[in-house]
Amino acid sequence: MGKVTLLLLFVLLAFANAAPRFDCLPEPNGNQGACEARGCIWKEDDTGKNAPWCYFKDGVGYNLDSQQGSTYNLRKNGGPSNPWGADSTEIKLTTKSIGSVLNVKIGIDGRYEPPVDFPRETQSSTESLSLSTSFSNGVFSFSVVRQSTNRKLFDTSIGGLIFSDQFIQIATYLPSENMYGWGENTHQSLRHDFTKYLTWAMFARDQPPNSGSLDTVNLYGVHPYYMILEPDGKAHGVLIINSNAQEVTTAPGPSLIYRTIGGNLDMYFFPGPTPEMVTQQYLKFIGKPFLPAYWALGYQLSRYGYKGLAEMKTRIQAVRDAGIPIDIGVADIDYMQRYKDFTTGDDWAGFSDYVKTMHDWGMKLILIFDPAIEATYPSFQRAIAANAKFIEWETKAQVQTAIQNLYPMAKDTKIMLGVVWPDNHVAFPDFLDSTNNTQNWWINEFVNYQSQVAFDGIWIDMNEPSNFGTNQDHPWYFDSDDHPNDAPLFCPTNGSSPWEMPPYKTRAVWRFGDANSGAFLSSNTLCMLAQQDGGKQRFYNVKNLYGLTEAINTQKALFKATGKRGAVVSRSTYPSAGRYAGHWLGDNTARWEDLRTSVIGAQEFNLFGIPYVGSDVCGFIGTTTEELCLRWQQMGAFHSFFRNHNTIGAPAQDPAVWPSVAAATKKANLFRYQYLPYLFSLHFTASLSGATVIRPVFFEYPTDAETFNLGYEFMWGSRILVAPVIYQGTTSVNAYLPTDRWYSLFDYRYGSIMSPGYATVPAPTTSRIPVFVRGYSVIPRQTPSITTTATRSNPFELLIAPCPLGMGEGTLYWDDGETIVNDFNSYDYHQFDFMYNSTATGGSVTITHSKKSSKISLPTLDIIEIFNYPSAPNFRSFTINGKLVNVNVQRSTYSGITKILYISTEGLVNLSSADSIVLQWSNAGNSMFDISSASSDEVGKMKALNTNRYDELYF
Ligand SMILES: *[C@@H]1O[C@H](CO)[C@@H](O)[C@H](O)[C@H]1NC(C)=O
Ligand SMILES: *[C@@H]1O[C@H](CO)[C@@H](O)[C@H](O)[C@H]1NC(C)=O
Ligand SMILES: *[C@@H]1O[C@H](CO)[C@@H](O)[C@H](O)[C@H]1NC(C)=O
Ligand SMILES: *[C@@H]1O[C@H](CO)[C@@H](O)[C@H](O)[C@H]1NC(C)=O
Repeated sequence: MGKVTLLLLFVLLAFANAAPRFDCLPEPNGNQGACEARGCIWKEDDTGKNAPWCYFKDGVGYNLDSQQGSTYNLRKNGGPSNPWGADSTEIKLTTKSIGSVLNVKIGIDGRYEPPVDFPRETQSSTESLSLSTSFSNGVFSFSVVRQSTNRKLFDTSIGGLIFSDQFIQIATYLPSENMYGWGENTHQSLRHDFTKYLTWAMFARDQPPNSGSLDTVNLYGVHPYYMILEPDGKAHGVLIINSNAQEVTTAPGPSLIYRTIGGNLDMYFFPGPTPEMVTQQYLKFIGKPFLPAYWALGYQLSRYGYKGLAEMKTRIQAVRDAGIPIDIGVADIDYMQRYKDFTTGDDWAGFSDYVKTMHDWGMKLILIFDPAIEATYPSFQRAIAANAKFIEWETKAQVQTAIQNLYPMAKDTKIMLGVVWPDNHVAFPDFLDSTNNTQNWWINEFVNYQSQVAFDGIWIDMNEPSNFGTNQDHPWYFDSDDHPNDAPLFCPTNGSSPWEMPPYKTRAVWRFGDANSGAFLSSNTLCMLAQQDGGKQRFYNVKNLYGLTEAINTQKALFKATGKRGAVVSRSTYPSAGRYAGHWLGDNTARWEDLRTSVIGAQEFNLFGIPYVGSDVCGFIGTTTEELCLRWQQMGAFHSFFRNHNTIGAPAQDPAVWPSVAAATKKANLFRYQYLPYLFSLHFTASLSGATVIRPVFFEYPTDAETFNLGYEFMWGSRILVAPVIYQGTTSVNAYLPTDRWYSLFDYRYGSIMSPGYATVPAPTTSRIPVFVRGYSVIPRQTPSITTTATRSNPFELLIAPCPLGMGEGTLYWDDGETIVNDFNSYDYHQFDFMYNSTATGGSVTITHSKKSSKISLPTLDIIEIFNYPSAPNFRSFTINGKLVNVNVQRSTYSGITKILYISTEGLVNLSSADSIVLQWSNAGNSMFDISSASSDEVGKMKALNTNRYDELYF
């Protein structure tokens, strides 16, 4: 054993021996007296690791009482008890395999289980996981072991298992520090940080992301899911199905401590072994993402604070006049009559006519809808008449009658009234209502409103759900000109309700202080004791499902109202929300830090199964700058959900405001629109079989340590890599390319081979941000126009980026862009698989029509661009299935310098002409189109030809 190995072993032992500290006093303002009164140890942390100063004595846990098959009966041991309620004496651990997924469930039968309909579809794996148990020092523990490597993926021998009614804790050693996921939080790095203790809160909250500094605050959604990349590059995922307020502490070891205040510990382990396979297994289990309408991948312009329809029209016109591709106008709550859903404001007369005009232009409209319904107007009246349900108080005695009596329709009900944007109190639809009355009423409201304003997509906001001023004597809106002083909701926080004031409140509360500083679980939302589904569900348990259940109901409403699949985007999400909706990363701020965290956030939501995701481009809160907006437009053009959005009162920030931003956006959007067939095919794959669209680089290079925390680069599927500009004042990017064949797909040395490793590449504001295409790729694209609607009828193109052996492949999925997908087995679409190869004597492209639609028409394939083509082809030698074709030699070029072969001929390939199409050619003996031997005249002509192609600078 060498010195280094010895040292390593010593370090490992030191870590293993460093007793983990389980926080015994996470409440604010703890002190030694309070700690010791709990029977815990008080010891300052002098390691700089932010360890808790008050922690449990050793021996917390359970004994193994008995075992029957895969059920382990556990009994509380003699170790320390927890200070937040009586430890459950007997709990059960059961384990089972669901396909390749291993389920380990710890808890008590009959306790709350999240009412979420996960499909639990399985995907086979070459890997298998097993459970092993052990018992030492009076503590039962288990581990989940990967059979192929014998590695422990989860190992609870660290101790700390606690189970009581309202406080549950489990801890584990982790096999690697390369952990990703958990949400929704703002992560400043893609990979978690195990150098110190950090506790991340998970409880849906109307909380703008704080990207300015490390902040473990909980945001809009909850995702108890993580992925770990193991030391050998294999990956696994872990889902905990629990919907209560919860938190996770990442700690040195590496280890994690998960705590929740209800339900059971229902854990699912996904074996991978690749990161993408983990994602596929996870998405099949929770539900694969919905397929957005094709147009939903277009560019969206939005703002909060349009003064009326006229301003919306002006800004959309300005963007169109600047020649910037744009598909979608988005209206925020301004369009409503005093912020009431399903109404149109006075300053929006003519909205329906304008929507017709937009539709004539090939554009679409997305409208915002909040869940809360004012208790005064016809929508509410229809709800009551239809026996729709709203979130309710538990008993009549709890009702705030002074508020209730203001509203005749709510007067004798238990409906819990709150305050959101409308002028009067609001009620919150109960989307868990199992009678379907609520769902049917909700759908009808959308159907009715759609016949007035023909929206195409739905944006659901405020669905944590958010309530203004809960438990506050003087809420912020008392000081707002635009909001009446409605009496706020008060929840019984005096300790009379175990739901309202549970013993352990989680970091979601303590991040903001304690009761003395007005921090409660019900802050910004409804009372925890509220009930849903006729008393069957407690808000304390199901609050985190509100956004998910609203999304389920709203997708149905969209389908019914429009007859098309459109798109729904939701602020609050939970595992499986991606089946019904996309997500935007919330009310960010116009800062460079927020641009950076949004690059990470979009990758995380792809791990969570919500690939239709993006940020508010240019920043929502605050005033953006020309440079920041420009860079954000350039980066956002690579996110699936691509929307410029701004807050009320801030200056306009659509790209037409600044000529430089307009030019950069036009260029970025033209690229996006050109590559939409590829982006769409990625979404199609994600919906069909579960996949990421935006993908962390390590997904493709899981043994390249340089990629493990490369959060500011990302991939489009497996073939395109993006390295955006994310720092102020920079005009270059130090981009990392993993060992592989790469080509530049941006202005700098377009089409040429880029060496792997780090390289500083130029990225002036006038250039496309650095984009690279990987060897062995055939990328479907399309000549871009100003809308996706127009683009869809333009000719197809193929970009071929060969591997060193001169080969490549790729796939195109193509449908009508809007039909609702009920079942892919009976769904009407085309699939084409492309193969490319070349030799010293020629090249070929084989197109296999793997799945055919009789109805969906297809543009012809007119352009094929091939990088690193070794020598000039004979343009007169092209054949399709053996028959000679005329290649347009005026438009087709080959350069011996750039090695780009560009074949352009109108109607070159009729994609529906045969099931298998082979386009083949041979190389010329002499280089008749070799730029190196061409006269300066010819070079000029070719440059002109090339620069005319969609504003690209190919030279
Ligand atoms: C509610 O609607 C679903 C279909 O959306 C149906 O399967 C279910 O039976 C309905 N439930 C009731 C109580 O009518
Ligand atoms: C707590 O407040 C509720 C009403 O909000 C009241 O009915 C109850 O008596 C109070 N309990 C205590 C212990 O003060
Ligand atoms: C392409 O590959 C196939 C199979 O390896 C081979 O038969 C064919 O000749 C190749 N075509 C060219 C043009 O190299
Ligand atoms: C393409 O081929 C199909 C099948 O042979 C034919 O029906 C169609 O008319 C062709 N399209 C064009 C544009 O030639």
